Amino acid sequence: MGISLSGRSFLKLFDFTPEQIRYLLDLAKELKRLKSAGVAHRHLTGKNIVLLFEKTSTRTRCAFEVAAMDLGMGVTFLDPQSSQMGKKESIADTARVLGKMYDGIEYRGFSQTIVEDIARYAGIPVWNGLTDDFHPTQVLADLLTIEEKKGRLAGINFTFMGDARNNVANSLMIGCAKMGLHFTACAPKDLWPKQELIDKTKKIAAETGARLRFTEDIDEGAKNADVIYTDIWVSMGEKEEVWESRIKLLKKYQVNGALMKRAADKAIFMHCLPSFHDTNTTVGADIAQRFGITEMEVTDEVFESAQSVVFDEAENRMHTIKAVMYATLR
Ligand code: CP
Ligand code: NVA
Repeated sequence: MGISLSGRSFLKLFDFTPEQIRYLLDLAKELKRLKSAGVAHRHLTGKNIVLLFEKTSTRTRCAFEVAAMDLGMGVTFLDPQSSQMGKKESIADTARVLGKMYDGIEYRGFSQTIVEDIARYAGIPVWNGLTDDFHPTQVLADLLTIEEKKGRLAGINFTFMGDARNNVANSLMIGCAKMGLHFTACAPKDLWPKQELIDKTKKIAAETGARLRFTEDIDEGAKNADVIYTDIWVSMGEKEEVWESRIKLLKKYQVNGALMKRAADKAIFMHCLPSFHDTNTTVGADIAQRFGITEMEVTDEVFESAQSVVFDEAENRMHTIKAVMYATLR
C-alpha cells in the first residue's frame, strides 16, 4: 500500500518512519520540479491555513506563506501582539477556535508541549515551525539539500559544530539517524543533547545503520565530514546574559577555513540561518562592541565560500514545507 500522511500533524521527526520521511522528500522534489517548470499546482484550492508565531521568523513564515499560495490556499498570520493568543485566550481555547475555521495550523514558539497541545485540541493538522526542543521542517530542507548536493543520504558523515543541544541540532540528530547518516555532535560536553534524547535516537540508529558520535575534539569532529553544519550560539528565547559564557564555551568550535580544511574533500557547509558571520546586524554589531569578535559560529570567509550551500538550503524550506502541507491536507 502507498504511504498516506493525510490528516496527520508534523510535530517532531520521532513520529515518522524513514519511509514516510523519504515520501516527503520525494514529494518535495516533485513540487520543486513543477515550480521551476512553471507548472501550476494549486492542489489545495479552497483550503485555508493559519500561522501562529510567538517568536520571530523570516524563512519559516515566508516558506509557509509562499507554499500555501502556490498550493492555492488562503493564509492568515497571527502573533501575540495582534491576537488574543496567550494574553486573553489560552492556547487550548485558541486551538479549538482555529480548528473550526481553518484546515491547518503552523505554530512557532516555546515549549514542545504547546505545539503538541494545539494538535490535540485543534482536531486538524498542526505543523511545528520551531519550538525550544525541535525544528523538524528545517531538517527536511537540510536532508533534501544534502541529497541534492551529495547524491545520497545513507552513509554521509554529518558533523554539527557548536550548540549541539539546541532545537536544530536535536532534530538533525534524529533526522540523520532516521535516514542513515552518521551524526557527530562536536561541542563542549555541557552542550551535548540530553541523554534521554540520545538514548532514544540510538535505538533508531541501530535499525538504520547510522552511527552517533559525541566529541569535544575538533580534529575528531571535523575529520572526514562530508557536511559541516552550525547554528547560532544563543537561540531565541534564551536570556541575553548567556552570550558571554556561550562565546567563551564555543569560540574554538567556530567553523572557519582551517576547520573546513580538516573535513573531507568537497565537504559542504550548512547553516539553518540566520547567521552571525559579520557585523551587519544589530546583534552582530553589539557583540563585536562588547566582546571584540566580529564573526561568531562561522567566519565570513566560509559563509561566502563555494562550499557554502546555505541559500539553496533556505530555498528548500519552501519546497519541503509545501510537501508537508500537501501530504497532510490532501
Ligand atoms: N531557519 C529558520 O527557521 O529561519 P527563520 O527563523 O527565519 O524562520
Ligand atoms: N536555534 C535557532 C534556530 C533559528 C532558526 C533558534 O532557535 O533561535
